[in-house]
Amino acid sequence: MTDEQPYYRVKYSQTTITELMVPSYANFGGKIHGGTLLSLMDKVAYACASRHAGSYCVTVSVDEVNFLAPVEVGELVSLHASVNYVGNTSLVIGIRVESENVKTRKIKHTNTSYVTMVAKDEKTNELKKVPGLILEDKEEARRFIEAIKRKELKKRYAHEFDNVKAEETLEGNLSLLSGQRCVLNLDEAGL
Ligand SMILES: CC(C)(COP(=O)(O)OP(=O)(O)OC[C@H]1O[C@@H](n2cnc3c(N)ncnc32)[C@H](O)[C@@H]1OP(=O)(O)O)[C@@H](O)C(=O)NCCC(=O)NCCS
Repeated sequence: MTDEQPYYRVKYSQTTITELMVPSYANFGGKIHGGTLLSLMDKVAYACASRHAGSYCVTVSVDEVNFLAPVEVGELVSLHASVNYVGNTSLVIGIRVESENVKTRKIKHTNTSYVTMVAKDEKTNELKKVPGLILEDKEEARRFIEAIKRKELKKRYAHEFDNVKAEETLEGNLSLLSGQRCVLNLDEAGL
């Protein structure tokens, strides 16, 4: 890993992919599969991250994805990706997904998600340091700061959840099942 790294503008790697939603992307209900959109999100995140990093990147994690509106066959889906944050070897890519009905020209926001990627050396598989980021307006600075806060929250959540798991037993939590829509049907050996 080298310490001397260039800094690039956010705009340098901003990437948009637009794809027509064809019938083969649809489920039995005629709406586009969530997995199709997830795959496109991974693709645009890779394009944006590898442009900034100037190298091969791999996906580390995808933050919560909530689909806000269904996408129909025949719509044009655009995925706008931007580097929101860089660490040493990792980058957080913010992705805004919009779907356009070309006949009505109506555009709906279907989701916004954050994908963390790391840069790697293709031959050795070792992590690579990524270039720094030049923030040129308040929006870019806000996104960088929010990414730091999300990273801290994720760390706290993982730590607290590990503690909860370590402390608790099934027997101690059976009361949580009361009033839930499940039936506990364990035989004597199971409990
Ligand atoms: C992600 C991976 C590199 C982490 O390896 P590691 O030995 O734990 O490395 P580190 O702890 O040094 O983390 C490397 C970077 O990833 C970040 N990172 C690691 N796990 C993370 C997570 N769950 N969420 C967000 N960032 C994470 C670290 O913060 C660090 O960032 P920084 O260098 O900018 O500070 C490793 O688990 C890996 O290669 N996973 C497979 C990824 C892959 O192949 N994806 C394709 C899926 S098909």
